[in-house]
Amino acid sequence: MHFSKRVENLKPYPFARTAEKLAALKARGVDVIRMDIGSPDMPPAEHILAAAENAVRDPGTHGYPAFGYGTPSLLAAVADYYKARFEVALDPKREITALLGSKEGIFHLTQALIQEGDVALVPDPGYPVYRVAAEWAGADVHPLPLRREKEFLPDLDSIPQEVLRRARIMWINYPNNPTGAVAGRDFYERALDLARRNNFLLCHDAAYSDVAYDGYRPKSILELDGARGCAVEFNSVSKTYNMAGWRLGFVSGNADAVSAIRKVKSNIDSGIFPAVTAAGEAALRGDQAWIAARNAVYAKRRDRILAGLAGIGIRADTPKASLYIWAPVPDGFTAESFADSLLEQTGVCISPGTFFGREGEGYVRISIATPDERVREALQKIRRWKPS
Ligand SMILES: Cc1ncc(COP(=O)(O)O)c(C=O)c1O
Repeated sequence: MHFSKRVENLKPYPFARTAEKLAALKARGVDVIRMDIGSPDMPPAEHILAAAENAVRDPGTHGYPAFGYGTPSLLAAVADYYKARFEVALDPKREITALLGSKEGIFHLTQALIQEGDVALVPDPGYPVYRVAAEWAGADVHPLPLRREKEFLPDLDSIPQEVLRRARIMWINYPNNPTGAVAGRDFYERALDLARRNNFLLCHDAAYSDVAYDGYRPKSILELDGARGCAVEFNSVSKTYNMAGWRLGFVSGNADAVSAIRKVKSNIDSGIFPAVTAAGEAALRGDQAWIAARNAVYAKRRDRILAGLAGIGIRADTPKASLYIWAPVPDGFTAESFADSLLEQTGVCISPGTFFGREGEGYVRISIATPDERVREALQKIRRWKPS
């Protein structure tokens, strides 16, 4: 079998490698506790499940969906969500497209925008798909280091002019995966200014915009004046409504970018299962109060895990948002050797920071999307971990 160069150069997705490691451990009878992935462990609210159930029973639900990039009613529900949540008015006909999860949209929007000779500005550490999508398109990736001394924001002033000249796309993501950092209006303003001056598309990945704690409310970049002239924002029901497996996301903002991704997608996929559309609409339009209660559960876990880590000498910052604790590894360990040691000794699986880029060295990412009783068990096991 001959494979394309693209596929030969493609590394396996980091979490696929973990899955193989875990299968071997499980075969040895190890009770593995997964604190490595950001897949919400709690179900969506009842009204969302009911909407999906009703739709599944409707005989008209099972054919190809009539609208590839979201029904008018779903797109209107996204627009209403943006109005209610961020006071941003979007035109659902031109400025919003539904996606089969934001991961798919991140990949395909990149294909629509860049090619060989272009540069993608990509945070490091960062969600791996930004980089993979750019490499697949044949473009060069210029990493933007996220470091603690800069509050895990990229240093926009340090990007060389020559790189900016070739840049067609820049990714930012707040609340951030994997660092748990957040960004304010001032940072968004500076990023938009850079995009305007250098004529590239600023892509804000806001997958965690409704997973926030202690009264903190993440902003939308589209709240800023003129943002839609040069920016889009990705959002998704995955983390906001505990619907990661349903595969429904959105990209909103710049109308030209929205039109380009529609063109790509109409050639590749055939839209969203209508029962998922019905559930998504119910989520976006329904009562939002349960989200605060869900976030309170996460916040309690977050604090419990931070205390458990402190017990073995690891002091991590308290994230204001996202599903992750970004913790420095103990002295004498690399990101990978610490994650491996913890897994081998305790069965607790966390992600080495290097899964997210070179700058992730020295850190591990711990997910708080793990059921309370499993977190309790994990913390008991972690207490017995020895740096041997
Ligand atoms: C930063 C970030 N963006 C996008 C995604 C993908 O989300 P979706 O389920 O909408 O594809 C994830 C998933 O973990 C993520 O962490």
